[in-house]
This record gives sequence, structure tokens and C-alpha cells, in this order.
Amino acid sequence: MTTYDLALIGFGGVNRSLAELIASRGEALRAELGFGLRVVAITDLRLGSLMDANGIDLSMALALGGDSGSGGDTFARYGGSAEPDNEAVIRGCTADIICEATFTNPDDGEPAVSHVRWALESGKNVCTTNKGPVALRGRELAALAARQGVRFEFEGAVMSGTPVIRLARQMFSGLKLNGFEGIMNGTSNYVLGRMEAGLDLGEAVREAQELGYAEANPAADLEGFDVQLKVLILANELLGGNLQLKDVQREGISAVTPEDIRVAASAGRRWKLIGSARRTPDGGIEAGVAPRAIDLVHSLAGISGATNAVSFETDLLGPVTVSGPGAGRIETAYALLSDIIAIHQAAEGRGAAGSVQAAAEDGGLARV
Ligand SMILES: NC(=O)c1ccc[n+]([C@@H]2O[C@H](COP(=O)([O-])OP(=O)(O)OC[C@H]3O[C@@H](n4cnc5c(N)ncnc54)[C@H](OP(=O)(O)O)[C@@H]3O)[C@@H](O)[C@H]2O)c1
Repeated sequence: MTTYDLALIGFGGVNRSLAELIASRGEALRAELGFGLRVVAITDLRLGSLMDANGIDLSMALALGGDSGSGGDTFARYGGSAEPDNEAVIRGCTADIICEATFTNPDDGEPAVSHVRWALESGKNVCTTNKGPVALRGRELAALAARQGVRFEFEGAVMSGTPVIRLARQMFSGLKLNGFEGIMNGTSNYVLGRMEAGLDLGEAVREAQELGYAEANPAADLEGFDVQLKVLILANELLGGNLQLKDVQREGISAVTPEDIRVAASAGRRWKLIGSARRTPDGGIEAGVAPRAIDLVHSLAGISGATNAVSFETDLLGPVTVSGPGAGRIETAYALLSDIIAIHQAAEGRGAAGSVQAAAEDGGLARV
């Protein structure tokens, strides 16, 4: 039976959860999916790096660092290095698949762009949950993957493990996708919901921070930067666009007032931060993120709290809406697992239409 060797780049919430999943469910997954998983390399900013072609002891790795901190301990104690050594590990390790889950850099995507490039250049498949490389350099990286005959998968970059990208690629074959609109940021959605319940913006943000939904600096969520990257990914990925970040108009929710919320409610409407893109009659794509007061019968009006949803506008079915978790370390680790399953299916010749390779060859990022 096939066993895929993995390298985990960044050992924070998401890749730790993937390691936990492999440690706790590896045997069940092997029986169900028909392949095994083994971690042969890990790198992390604080823990350094470790390679073992025979498989790293995951209970040791998981015991190092984590919520309790590493106490200064690093992989050097286990025969590795106290430094991440990312390029040497990615290029030199024996992994079949590199799982990239370092931080998202919305400016230039680095260092994740380099991590992905080193992996593809050395003939390794990549799965990532990191929006940066996909949004900012996706086309170029997909073309590199195609040239190298390997896969570049990134389901978790939008709506964590909730299937959006692969679902649209695979299940909408034969339909024309004319656009999409969605709620793709749980923090801003939670804040708007609490404002509807009577809190002002500041109170709602503080509550979200206390509950761990919002960062200490919530600008990426509230000002629409996070959704802007996701819209860019979906527009290029699913509508075949070649947009840059500047092509996605951006407005956040910080100007929405309690009075706006009251006026909307009395008119049977509700404010939501909507990320959207649609084809224009001249063959272009119009994309943006902005707060909108939508009708209560709108398919996105009932999406509350941290839940996310995307409604796809198709020619034969009309709107098709997918909702589910938009974040969470376990949910996002599942996205990596779903990418690995897609890589396995492609290796077995069961890859669905819309492969990264095929799409890159016809000039799109990866689309049906
Ligand atoms: N968690 C979610 O719900 C979610 C959902 C969708 C997408 N994502 C994306 O998935 C990625 C991972 O998320 P996460 O929640 O696991 O983040 P995280 O907990 O912050 O983990 C990232 C890890 O990568 C390490 N790291 C940073 N730069 C590195 C480098 N150059 N080399 C090696 N390691 C490096 C970090 O070390 P330090 O801690 O020392 O900086 C940290 O351990 C992010 O891009 C995030 O945007 C996350």
C-alpha cells in the first residue's frame, strides 16, 4: 500500500492538528483511503528543523512546543537543528508532499512563496492553507507545478476545510459559473451580528477579542483585507481571471454604524461583509469586498457568527450556496488532508477535471 511522506513547514495550529490527525487516526485513514501518511520532516521558526526518512516520532514532536511553549527546547535535542533551515529541508528531504502552513503575508506572500517554489522546483507536491502564495503568485506557481508534473493544492486558503474550491472545480463541470458572492470572514460577521443585537462596533470587537475570534489588531478582518485575498483566489481560480490584488475593490465594516443597522432592520435587511466577483459583458471580471445591507430572504442573510458561506451563480442551477466553518485549526488541517487525498487520486489517475496542470496549460490558475 502507498505511503505518502510529508514535510510540515510551520508547526503551529494547522500543521500540529494535521500531525495529531495522523497520530490518532492514521490506521483508520489507511483502511478508508487506501494510503498511509508519515511525517519525515518538520520545520518551525521556534523549534528549528528535523528530518528522518524513517518517520518522525509525532508524540515527541507534538510534546515539543505547543500551547505550553517549548521552554526553549528545539529539534536540536533530537538530532535536528535549532534553526528552521527551510530551503535545505524542503529541497533535501525525502517527502512526497510539502504541507506549507506558515503565516500569511498579504504584501508579497513571503516566505511562503519561496517555500512553495523550492518544493515544486525539487519535484515535490505542495498543499498549503496559506492565502499569500495562492492569491499573490498563484498563476506562476501553478504553471511551475505543471512544468514539474506535480500538484499545487490549496483548498484551505478559502473557508478552511469547507469544500469550496475543489467543489466548484469538480462538481460544476458542464455549468457556466458567472460569479459568486460570499461571507468569508467569521470575525466581521460575528461583529455585525453583535451590532444587530445592540452593541456598538467597539464593544462588539472587544467581545470578539475576548472570545478569541478577533486578533489584537483586528484590521485584517474588519477592513476587508482578509476577504480581499480570498476573493482574488476565487476569482482567478474559478472564473479564470488574472486579477491582481489592486483589482479587487476593498471596503471594510468600520464605517457601519448602529444607526445603519437599525435602519436596515426596519426595512427587512441585514448588514453583511460581502466578497464577490462576477463576469462582465465585455468578458472581464469585476471583484470586490464591501459591506451591504442584504434582504432577509437572501441566501447569505441567515449565515451568522463565525460561519462562512459562498453562493455561486451558475447558468443552469441558478445560485448554489455552500456554508460551513471558515476557520479553526482542525477544520483547516482537514483541508490539508483533502488536498493530500486529491494528490493521491491524481496519482491513481482518478484526478477530476480542472486539474492544476490542465488549467495552468490553458492559461488559467486552475479551473474547470
Ligand atoms: N487557523 C486557521 O483557522 C486558518 C484557517 C485558514 C487558513 N489558515 C492559514 O494557515 C496558515 C497556518 O495557520 P496557523 O493557524 O497554523 O498559524 P500559526 O499557529 O501561527 O502557525 C504558523 C507556524 O509557522 C511558524 N513559522 C512562521 N514563519 C516560519 C518560517 N519562516 N519557517 C518555519 N516556520 C515558520 C510559526 O512560528 P512562530 O509562532 O514562532 O511565528 C508558527 O509556529 C496561515 O497562513 C493561516 O493564515 C489558518
